[in-house]
Amino acid sequence: MSGEHLVLGLSGSPRKGGTDYAVNYALQRLEANHGVPSRYFSVRGKTIHFCIHCDYCIRKKKGCIHQDDLQELYPLLEEATIWILGSPVYHGHISAQLKAVLDRTRALLARRPGALTGKLGAGIAVGGDRNGGQEQVLGTIADFYLINEMVPVGGGAFGANWGGSVWTADRGSEGAAEDSEGLRSIRRTVDRLARS
Ligand SMILES: Cc1cc2nc3c(=O)[nH]c(=O)nc-3n(C[C@H](O)[C@H](O)[C@H](O)COP(=O)(O)O)c2cc1C
Repeated sequence: MSGEHLVLGLSGSPRKGGTDYAVNYALQRLEANHGVPSRYFSVRGKTIHFCIHCDYCIRKKKGCIHQDDLQELYPLLEEATIWILGSPVYHGHISAQLKAVLDRTRALLARRPGALTGKLGAGIAVGGDRNGGQEQVLGTIADFYLINEMVPVGGGAFGANWGGSVWTADRGSEGAAEDSEGLRSIRRTVDRLARS
């Protein structure tokens, strides 16, 4: 993969657990095996307000009205040519924290339409159950990429169809590290990203 790429790994988990582990696992592989530099952002400990649909961003085109911790993420979202969004599975869906981040990209797009066009995007879903809704989470992440003219990338058939799918057995990073199938799905996804 050529040197113009920069990957952003984002963990949508409020704690230092399996999602944090899985996203960093992906970044390390992309950097070590494919030479892609990375940035990491976690929602953990951050103040992230919901989009309140005030339309300040649409009217002013100066970004989001909320001066919170997402201000440090906005430049990274724009700069990165590849996104890896990781989410814990909460009731079969993405975390509220990740959803808030995705909704708040409206401000970025209002200021610069097409800001995300053509970027590659992959997903990593981390659930306490083996089949706890990881595919729904990956589908939601892929939907975001499609809607915003990005290019969703999965890990291909035979193991990682929709992307990285991890089972922690509710044991956080330790559980993720022991899920060899889950880690394989991340490796396959990262390698597909590198070939895309
Ligand atoms: C509010 C809540 C809802 C959850 N719902 C699900 C679920 O639907 N399916 C599942 O597999 N695990 C579910 N879990 C378990 C987490 O996905 C699991 O513990 C995961 O490892 C959390 O990610 P983390 O280790 O990065 O914090 C839920 C956990 C919480 C706190």
